[in-house]
Formats: sequence, structure tokens, C-alpha cells
Amino acid sequence: MYKIGIITVSDKGSRGEREDRSGPAIREIAESLGEVTSYQVLPDDLDVLIEGLVNLSDKKRVDLIFTSGGTGLSARDNTPEATLAVIDREVPGLAEAMRMESMKKTNRAMLSRAVSGVRNRTLIVNLPGSVKAVRECLDVIMPALPHGLEILTGRGGECGS
Ligand code: MTE
Repeated sequence: MYKIGIITVSDKGSRGEREDRSGPAIREIAESLGEVTSYQVLPDDLDVLIEGLVNLSDKKRVDLIFTSGGTGLSARDNTPEATLAVIDREVPGLAEAMRMESMKKTNRAMLSRAVSGVRNRTLIVNLPGSVKAVRECLDVIMPALPHGLEILTGRGGECGS
């Protein structure tokens, strides 16, 4: 079972002015992959997000980080930039698949700038902010994540099998 971190990115949520419904929705779905060992609601500040991601990866050693929110076009949307600043390698297929399948539900899916990538042995996946979007995107990628995590963490798994 894998260690999982969740970061909901929301200025209002971080100030306690809005209840976070996306983080708990991610937790519910992600628990099929492992244990959620960290859950935080952080503001949209670039430096805070970078620190949060690095901390989860380097200190808490989680295998997988889901972020929710901050992927759109608002001036305060910094989640993709924070993610790109900390990853060593992009995993573009995850973000591509989410956008492609999400386009069948709403053409606004093209407005998400979400990225995915790997820092050391941690896979980081940006999800949009709404509960609806979180569920739709996780439906798309969850089936592929066990194999990806197996390979990433060196816990076995043959690509051909
Ligand atoms: N993706 C899915 N699957 N379903 C959605 O409802 N909403 C879109 C998009 N991606 C949506 C989606 C909208 S309206 C926006 S503005 C962008 O995600 C960015 O969302 P964020 O700023 O909350 O990250």
C-alpha cells in the first residue's frame, strides 16, 4: 500500500472561509491505493505550494501527491507552476488523459492547466478544484496508477504482464 498526500489549494479554504469538499472526495477514492498520511489546505501562494510539495516528497516520503485546485487562469492560480518547479520529469499522459476525457463532460476542461510529474520517487498529480471535476478526473487515471506506482517505487511489476 502506498503513502498518499493531499493538498487542496484554496485561499478561502486555507482561511477557513470555505469548506473543502474536494480533499475528502480525493481521500475516499485514493484510499483504494493506500493510506492518506497527510491532508492540508494551503493558500495559492507559489512559495507555500512549493514548500508543501517538497515537504511531502522529501520529508514525509509519500509515494503519491494529489493537489486539487489552482490550475485555472486566475492570477492566483499557481499550482502547475509550483508543480513544475519541483518535479524532475513530467508525466504528460496523465494530464492529457484527464483533459481529453473531461472534454466529453465539459468544454471548460480545456481551461485547466494541470500537470503531472515525478519528483524522486513521488508522483505528483494536479486535479482541478471542484468535487465534480475531481471525481471525473480520478475516474480516468485511477486504473493506471497502481502500475505506474509499482514501477516508480521499484516494487516490482513488469510492463508486459
Ligand atoms: N474537468 C472536469 N473533469 N470537470 C470539470 O467540471 N472544470 C473546469 C476545468 N476542468 C472541470 C474540469 C473548469 S470550469 C476550470 S476553470 C478548470 O478546470 C480549472 O479549475 P481550477 O482552477 O479549480 O483548478
